[in-house]
Amino acid sequence: MARKGGFDAVAPLYDTLSYVVFGNALKRAQLAFLEHLPTTGRALVIGGGTGWILKEVVKRRPGLQVDYVEASEKMLALSRRKVASDNHQVNFIHGTEKSVPSSDYDCIITNFFLDVFSENSLKRVMSLLREKLGSGGMWICTDFRSAGKRNHQFLIWLMHRFFGLFASLEANRLLDFRPFFDKEGMILKEESEFRNGLIFSALYRPNE
Ligand SMILES: C[S@@+](CC[C@H](N)C(=O)[O-])C[C@H]1O[C@@H](n2cnc3c(N)ncnc32)[C@H](O)[C@@H]1O
Repeated sequence: MARKGGFDAVAPLYDTLSYVVFGNALKRAQLAFLEHLPTTGRALVIGGGTGWILKEVVKRRPGLQVDYVEASEKMLALSRRKVASDNHQVNFIHGTEKSVPSSDYDCIITNFFLDVFSENSLKRVMSLLREKLGSGGMWICTDFRSAGKRNHQFLIWLMHRFFGLFASLEANRLLDFRPFFDKEGMILKEESEFRNGLIFSALYRPNE
């Protein structure tokens, strides 16, 4: 796992850096399935970064109760600023997957979060999150995928080196998340690709 607070150092520059390297692609991908979110119930956003996605969720779904779990204090502070102080829809939690407060979520959002883990940690984290998802819930996952293209592989390599250095990233290679979702009994319902397949967004539901 990324060390608790590991992303503190890059937090102030994170969104700018993402935009410089990927333009709007990371945002477009993360917005792709937000219209599928339930209008009421409980959502978990984990590893949400600076919180711009939180603002989008709250804007689209004022009836949804959101637990927002972030390991970096700096990221969490930036996220708090994205939501009005009198908005009681969001429960901000400084912590990790171990700090997720509830179960039976109607929706879990992991965007560029699963890619911070090594294989063993990923198994553990995904299984823990799967237990927190209610039957009939959805899991929206947006992340990178290595389609074998050389320029993609180089970019992924560069990101691992950069975040390894500045955010103590645990992962040193990009995993294919599909078998991990399969193992958790999750069925892919919809998927979109961005930047020639380097980025995907997927909507999964439990096989129940
Ligand atoms: C690669 S960044 C992605 C941020 C955001 N989702 C985005 O796409 O802009 C990963 C985020 O996950 C957070 N993080 C890393 N390990 C975590 C953990 N075990 N639990 C919760 N958050 C974690 C980091 O602090 C960071 O904000």
